[in-house]
Amino acid sequence: MSSSATPGLKNVLVTGGAGYIGSHVVYCLQKTRRYKVISIDNHHNSLPAALTRVAELSLEELKASCSPDEPTPSQLESTKVDAHTCDLTDPASVRAVFAKYGKGGIWGVVHIAAYKAVGESTEIPLTYYANNVSATLSLLQIMSEFDCSRIVYSSSATVYGTPPEVPIPESTRLKADSPYGRTKVMCETIIGDLCSAEPDKWQAISLRYFNPAGAHPSGRIGEDPRGRPGNLLPLLAHMAVGRIPDPLLKVFGNDYPTEDGTCVRDYLHVLDLAGGHLLALEALEEGSELNATAFADVKDGKFKAYNLGKGKGMSVYQIVEAMRKATGFGYKTEVVGRRRGDVPALIADPALAQKELGFSAAHDLETMCRDLWNWQKKNPKGYET
Ligand SMILES: NC(=O)c1ccc[n+]([C@@H]2O[C@H](COP(=O)([O-])OP(=O)(O)OC[C@H]3O[C@@H](n4cnc5c(N)ncnc54)[C@H](O)[C@@H]3O)[C@@H](O)[C@H]2O)c1
Repeated sequence: MSSSATPGLKNVLVTGGAGYIGSHVVYCLQKTRRYKVISIDNHHNSLPAALTRVAELSLEELKASCSPDEPTPSQLESTKVDAHTCDLTDPASVRAVFAKYGKGGIWGVVHIAAYKAVGESTEIPLTYYANNVSATLSLLQIMSEFDCSRIVYSSSATVYGTPPEVPIPESTRLKADSPYGRTKVMCETIIGDLCSAEPDKWQAISLRYFNPAGAHPSGRIGEDPRGRPGNLLPLLAHMAVGRIPDPLLKVFGNDYPTEDGTCVRDYLHVLDLAGGHLLALEALEEGSELNATAFADVKDGKFKAYNLGKGKGMSVYQIVEAMRKATGFGYKTEVVGRRRGDVPALIADPALAQKELGFSAAHDLETMCRDLWNWQKKNPKGYET
């Protein structure tokens, strides 16, 4: 056991832990009281305050759940985050984090950190390949050096590009049509190859996220992108809270073959998505029930990919209407031309994750919008408030 081990807790490294999805994953891991979270984030698109808030929230919830008894030392430890401001493209500093815990000291990794803007990736592809692919390669090499061979990887529905059918099953051929999407396909391929090469060592689960939305219902943690949000829901929240002067929503095309002509996406609550990571980690535990179901049919190394989505599509206009109801804000929209790379509909077939991991995206759109607005209202300037 390494000197940094706490009895009863598994050390899990979360990369990108201070980001939108990362902070909710860290919260969910802490809530189980089974893990001690170590985070690596370079704060390219986040602030350290996110993890301070997560730790405060976890501690308050722990105390409330134990009362009138005192939490145990291990429970208390589970609410702390060992947060490192560190860049994954710098192997020396990542190695230093692993060295702190020693060989075998980090039980598993949830690798979330990446650049994620499709449009930007078409302009600066090398930056995307370096940050998303090279950094993942380097992380895997360092994991191997330190006998850490369980990984949950943050993939994306963009791996499917323009899918031949919706809802999209995992068996669909991967054919991403942006550099960003291709970084996800490449990382999945690299991780899959590693699992095939050393089947007795590596186990990995790739989670292909559809469109995460919402925030923790307390309004204490949420999405806080640097600059103008690239995604629809945070953009609508920024408009409603007054962060965007003369807000006018550009609708990129209303002539798609969808019910109202606008693009359709599969939105799921960020806490449902984060919960999927707990299930994936459980599936990486040798001897667990989920380990048996996830890898039962796997022949060529223990690598499995799952869609995380609701299996239900929402159009741009439906989202605007749901946010209007949640915020009371009168959104103005203007239809402009289609955006390069947009596909009419991306809807998950979540059946495999439901069957093998017991995953379910239970929250509805109304709840996602309500929680997002609650977060934005309480934190008009995000974590800078
Ligand atoms: N948000 C979405 O709609 C969505 C959809 C599908 C997939 N994903 C994937 O989910 C993951 C997280 O997305 P998010 O929305 O939380 O994004 P985010 O930008 O909020 O979080 C990513 C975090 O990783 C950090 N990071 C980036 N590069 C790093 C590096 N080299 N070293 C250390 N830290 C680094 C950022 O500072 C940020 O805190 C990404 O891999 C993204 O591709 C997101």
